[in-house]
Amino acid sequence: MSLNIKETIDGSFQLVGADFTHAGEASTQLKQKLAELGVPDGIVRRVAIATFEAEMNAIIYAAAGWLHYCITPQSITIQVVDMGPGIENIELAMQEGYSTAPDWAREMGWGAGMGLPNMKRNSDIFKIDSVVGEGTTVEMIINFP
Ligand SMILES: Nc1ncnc2c1ncn2[C@@H]1O[C@H](COP(=O)(O)OP(=O)(O)OP(=O)(O)O)[C@@H](O)[C@H]1O
Ligand SMILES: [Mg+2]
Repeated sequence: MSLNIKETIDGSFQLVGADFTHAGEASTQLKQKLAELGVPDGIVRRVAIATFEAEMNAIIYAAAGWLHYCITPQSITIQVVDMGPGIENIELAMQEGYSTAPDWAREMGWGAGMGLPNMKRNSDIFKIDSVVGEGTTVEMIINFP
C-alpha cells in the first residue's frame, strides 16, 4: 500500500478543559484521516496512542488547549498546546507512575502516571516545554516508513 500524501496537510482541534463529552474526538479524527491516507496500521496506532494521551492531559489538567497537526509525505507532527497550570518538574512528571491526577479524574480511570512515558515511547521525536502558570506544549513527531 502506498501513501496517498502529495502535499502538506494540516489542521487544528480545539480542546476544552473537563469536556468529557468530546474528549478523544481530536485523536479519533486524526486516526481516521491517517488511515484514509494509507498510513500503515502500526504507525496509525502509535499516533493514536500518543495523541490521545496528550489530548486527555490537556482536558484533565488545563482550562483549554489546541491540538495542531501537520502531515507530510515523510511524517506527522502533533503539537498539543494548553493554557493550564504548567508542570513544575518535567523530569519527575516524565517518570512512569508519577501522577497528580485529581480524585475526579482517578474515578474515571486516569492517573496511572503512564501518559507522558507512553507519548515518548510512541514518538520518534518527543519534546515537552512548560511554564508554570502559563501552560504546557508537547510536540511529537512520528515518521512514516
Ligand atoms: N498538560 C499538563 N498540564 C499540567 N500538568 C501536566 C500536564 N500533563 C501532565 N502533567 C503532570 O504530569 C503528571 C504525569 O502525567 P501523565 O500523563 O504521565 O500521567 P497521568 O495523567 O497522571 O496519568 P495517566 O496519563 O496514566 O492517566 C500528571 O499527573 C500531572 O501532574
Ligand atoms: Mg495523562
